[in-house]
Amino acid sequence: MELLFTCFLLLMSSFSHAYSTKDQPYNAIYSFGNSYADTGNFVTLVKGVFPYNVFEHLPYGMTYFGKPTGRGSDGRLVIDFIAQNLSLPLVPAYFSKGQDFHEGVNFAVIGSTALTLDYLKQRNITVPPVDTSINVQLGWFDQFKTSLCNTTDSCKAYFRKSLFILGEFGGNDYTFILSAGKSIREVKSYVPAVIKAIKGAAEVYTLLKQGVQNIVIPGNLPTGCIPIMLTLYASTNKSDYDHLGCLKHYNTIGIYHNIKLQQAVFRLRIKYPKANISYANYYDPVINFLKNPKEFGFTNGAPLRICCGGGGPYNYNLTATCGQPGVSACLNPSTYINWDGIHLTEAAYRIIATGWLEGPYAYPPILSGCN
Ligand SMILES: *[C@@H]1O[C@H](CO)[C@@H](O)[C@H](O)[C@H]1NC(C)=O
Ligand SMILES: *[C@@H]1O[C@H](CO)[C@@H](O)[C@H](O)[C@H]1NC(C)=O
Ligand SMILES: *[C@@H]1O[C@H](CO)[C@@H](O)[C@H](O)[C@H]1NC(C)=O
Ligand SMILES: *[C@@H]1O[C@H](CO)[C@@H](O)[C@H](O)[C@H]1NC(C)=O
Ligand SMILES: *[C@@H]1O[C@H](CO)[C@@H](O)[C@H](O)[C@H]1NC(C)=O
Ligand SMILES: *[C@@H]1O[C@H](CO)[C@@H](O)[C@H](O)[C@H]1NC(C)=O
Repeated sequence: MELLFTCFLLLMSSFSHAYSTKDQPYNAIYSFGNSYADTGNFVTLVKGVFPYNVFEHLPYGMTYFGKPTGRGSDGRLVIDFIAQNLSLPLVPAYFSKGQDFHEGVNFAVIGSTALTLDYLKQRNITVPPVDTSINVQLGWFDQFKTSLCNTTDSCKAYFRKSLFILGEFGGNDYTFILSAGKSIREVKSYVPAVIKAIKGAAEVYTLLKQGVQNIVIPGNLPTGCIPIMLTLYASTNKSDYDHLGCLKHYNTIGIYHNIKLQQAVFRLRIKYPKANISYANYYDPVINFLKNPKEFGFTNGAPLRICCGGGGPYNYNLTATCGQPGVSACLNPSTYINWDGIHLTEAAYRIIATGWLEGPYAYPPILSGCN
């Protein structure tokens, strides 16, 4: 009873303090992850590597920034909405030049994996040219850290009031493993290694060593509802689809991953009772959007159809993707759930962010700090 009451008070004070600068619940945000969190690292890192990088072109960024920023959406991502809610600046990409990192920095890179590229290569899985996996991102963080603090105690003091967001990770690993021709059963055999990498990052590098107290660990999306997967793995057998039109066997990957991840988070909470460790949900919100699209403002009439694409049943066309010349966006992206076949629209990310901040899509919610 008393615990509940304390939590309630904490919740109330987080709400009322969200606007003030002095009494912010968090003084900085540190982010790791892939394209669901990248705010500009990938486009800088691979400059000159690809002749044409779609993420550098409109209509990416059209809704909020009016120009491409390297984000995989028409506007802000979940992390951007969280930063704005906490009265912090949009979390700058580590590789963008001339940015102030005193209120946080983002190490997420489009295409990142949880497992190292060597690990995947040894198993004959084709991987991207540059390793930006969790351990590499944590290496960048260690380097970066010396600009803030050098002793264990000063680092602990620094990170005590910071919010760490670790993920989403794993979605790309499973996609690469699938495209190497492995079965869904084989993909699932990689889940424990992926979870170990995420848990290791939370524990060995951040929580334990640097004294981090607030960490959010997001799970996977429903892979079988993502239009690129629906296109690549389309089936003529109706029973491969669920009532929402998603590929049900592919969704079992995310379900299994998220169960294992939540178990890992639960164990971390027991081991570090003083820390706030949240599991954040990307899976249920997407399913809820598909179930009741209109309730969330997704009124385009075909919830699995994407806003920016070059034709086909989901408007996702492998040879004419968003950002390529001649591929245009819908008029009103906020009426769509999915932006480009892989990533969500700003409108969808906004709802997810609110659900992470106040519930029900994070446990415990970021603004409650109760666990
Ligand atoms: C932050 O989010 C909470 C919960 O959704 C909301 O009540 C509050 O108005 C938001 N504050 C800002 C500054 O966005
Ligand atoms: C990877 O492919 C090579 C060449 O086809 C083969 O010899 C090797 O056994 C494969 N390794 C695994 C782990 O499948
Ligand atoms: C930590 O040490 C490095 C290397 O000696 C130095 O460049 C950096 O300025 C120091 N950082 C702080 C916050 O004192
Ligand atoms: C469709 O899939 C179901 C369940 O996996 C299977 O039992 C059935 O034989 C398949 N039908 C065809 C025509 O392949
Ligand atoms: C996909 O894009 C290619 C290349 O622009 C085009 O030729 C093709 O007709 C498109 N497919 C669909 C289904 O619209
Ligand atoms: C957990 O979060 C709450 C609310 O943001 C905060 O008041 C509390 O200090 C946090 N706990 C730790 C250990 O940082």
